[in-house]
Amino acid sequence: MQLLDGKLLSENIKMELAAEVDQIRLKGGKIPHLAAVLVGENPASQVYVSSKIKSCEQVGFKSTLVRRPADIGEAELLDIVYGLNNDPDIDGFIVQLPLPKHISEEKITLAIDHRKDVDGFHPVNFGRMAQGMPAFLPATPFGIMEMLRRHNIETSGKHCVVLGRSNIVGTPMALLLSRKGYPGDCTVTLTHSRTRDLAAEVRRADIVVAAIGIPQFVKADWVRDGAVVIDVGINRIADATRKSGSRLVGDVDFDAVAPKCSHITPVPGGVGLMTVTALLMNTLKACRKEIYG
Ligand code: GUN
Repeated sequence: MQLLDGKLLSENIKMELAAEVDQIRLKGGKIPHLAAVLVGENPASQVYVSSKIKSCEQVGFKSTLVRRPADIGEAELLDIVYGLNNDPDIDGFIVQLPLPKHISEEKITLAIDHRKDVDGFHPVNFGRMAQGMPAFLPATPFGIMEMLRRHNIETSGKHCVVLGRSNIVGTPMALLLSRKGYPGDCTVTLTHSRTRDLAAEVRRADIVVAAIGIPQFVKADWVRDGAVVIDVGINRIADATRKSGSRLVGDVDFDAVAPKCSHITPVPGGVGLMTVTALLMNTLKACRKEIYG
């Protein structure tokens, strides 16, 4: 069994990005600049956004954090989005989700200029991705694709079972793995809460991608010997043996499943770190105008 070490891989990619920034600086080019909009006090969102900002600093990108209270009006948030769309120094930006209930996430996502949509959430990017055209790919699936690529994991003709059909992970992951080329050319089954016999579906998988948000949900007797297991879950569970009283686990019952796998991602230290790194890769692409010219 080989651990797919997201920490090591993301550090390597960040070193490559830092070297690119050095080159840009030497040539007097524009330094990539990412902005993040954080609304309210959601603890997980605060952790994710500060990790994004810190990662920008590590690779030498500029970053801007726009923080607003949870009671900000939708019109005011739209104005912030329009301001970032029109700011020539901002190459890309994200509005951290979830947003407070009185704000339409759909309206906000549609308002973002797709050329600056480094989250890959805008339907222009999603549609281009689905058709195999150049696009900003959503960060988590992009990070997973990069992980498979950099570990030379065979995907062609493999049966991949994705658990969870969210717009930001499960659905784009299923599309990307079924696309032509490497990593891709998989036969994909996209499963969800209405799937009739989930265990039976997972037993047919050469590659499992678990993105359902239920701690330790995927059991050892569901997983075929030699499978590749990608665990997207980040769940906090009670653990009296820890000083904090809790610990992070994925959507996979790691201790039981890992011995059966050819490769598996740990939690923490797996997909999560690659997600942030993928956002940085998208920001560099935005700065270089690689996708939209
Ligand atoms: N909430 C959970 N994941 C993400 C993400 O990748 N981007 C944004 N903007 N919000 C999120």
